[in-house]
Amino acid sequence: MTRLEKKMTGINTRINNKIPVDRMYSDVNGKNKLDSNQESEIYTNKSKVNSTSIGEKTHNKAKYRRCAPYTIFSSLYDVAMGEAVLPSIIDAFSRSLKKHQFSITSIADVGCGTGRFLRYLSRNSTVLYGVDNSPSMLKRAVANTAGVDVNFLEQDIRQLVLPDEVDCITCTFDTINYLPNRCELKRAFQAFARNLKPGGVLVLDYIPEGASEGETGILRQFVKWKSMSSQWRIELDPKGRGSRVTILMRQKRRDGGTSRAYEVHEQRWHAPDTVDNALQETGFEMLETSTVEPNGKNNWLHVVARLMPMTHG
Ligand SMILES: C[S@@+](CC[C@H](N)C(=O)[O-])C[C@H]1O[C@@H](n2cnc3c(N)ncnc32)[C@H](O)[C@@H]1O
Repeated sequence: MTRLEKKMTGINTRINNKIPVDRMYSDVNGKNKLDSNQESEIYTNKSKVNSTSIGEKTHNKAKYRRCAPYTIFSSLYDVAMGEAVLPSIIDAFSRSLKKHQFSITSIADVGCGTGRFLRYLSRNSTVLYGVDNSPSMLKRAVANTAGVDVNFLEQDIRQLVLPDEVDCITCTFDTINYLPNRCELKRAFQAFARNLKPGGVLVLDYIPEGASEGETGILRQFVKWKSMSSQWRIELDPKGRGSRVTILMRQKRRDGGTSRAYEVHEQRWHAPDTVDNALQETGFEMLETSTVEPNGKNNWLHVVARLMPMTHG
């Protein structure tokens, strides 16, 4: 791994290293320094570089239809990254449960994505909600939680309305980095507060800093899986504190044709002070800020906060 890869976070780089090498192109070969305004290429399988990358480079965005984030990527999400990050998310959650000795029986996982964390949460909770604003991710979540009693809701986390208040809200794998600023963070935290029981717990993780100044530039990454081929254009903007990832996907259809679509993922890196203040201003008491991975890098933070009873409602 290069210094740059280590630095990069979010949907751009937490790629599942278990994808067979001949199916995925994300290892480093050749140019891997991010010089200002220069395009760099990352490939996994060195032997494929010449044959595959050249073909991939000819993707013409004009031929692709634009979709909302996770519409098409939902079909690749689990295998490309969801499965890779899940163990760390589960570890961080269970460490905190133990540390704070929470007793939790009702949980809403907001920004639940494909529902794999919900499956884990179902071991200890009797009431479960899965909330996401992407119909495609929710569809996957329903399939991934077959046999588990989960109430799924298609909602924006900033307008969260659960049928009943819960003991705990989880919001994992950088979902709050999709909120563009402090004001939208506060809107989400206020909505969480309205749906938690007094003293309820919020567990979330986020990217505080995805790259430092000077590490600006554009990278490309190619990910292939079965009949899907995707090209990722990753723009890091440390000054603007965020990243923009454009994913172009091509998929062979059953009728022999090819579907082409692209989506743009914009994430903001929230400074810890911003997150902490927004939480405190919306009635939460900070219980813990740690790294998601024990002894891990501090570019992926895990937060536990409790809703102070008097601010409830
Ligand atoms: C990086 S994925 C994380 C999914 C899941 N939590 C996990 O750990 O794998 C981010 C998820 O948040 C959802 N999301 C992003 N912004 C949202 C919003 N404002 N309201 C609801 N869901 C949102 C996306 O659709 C996506 O499923």
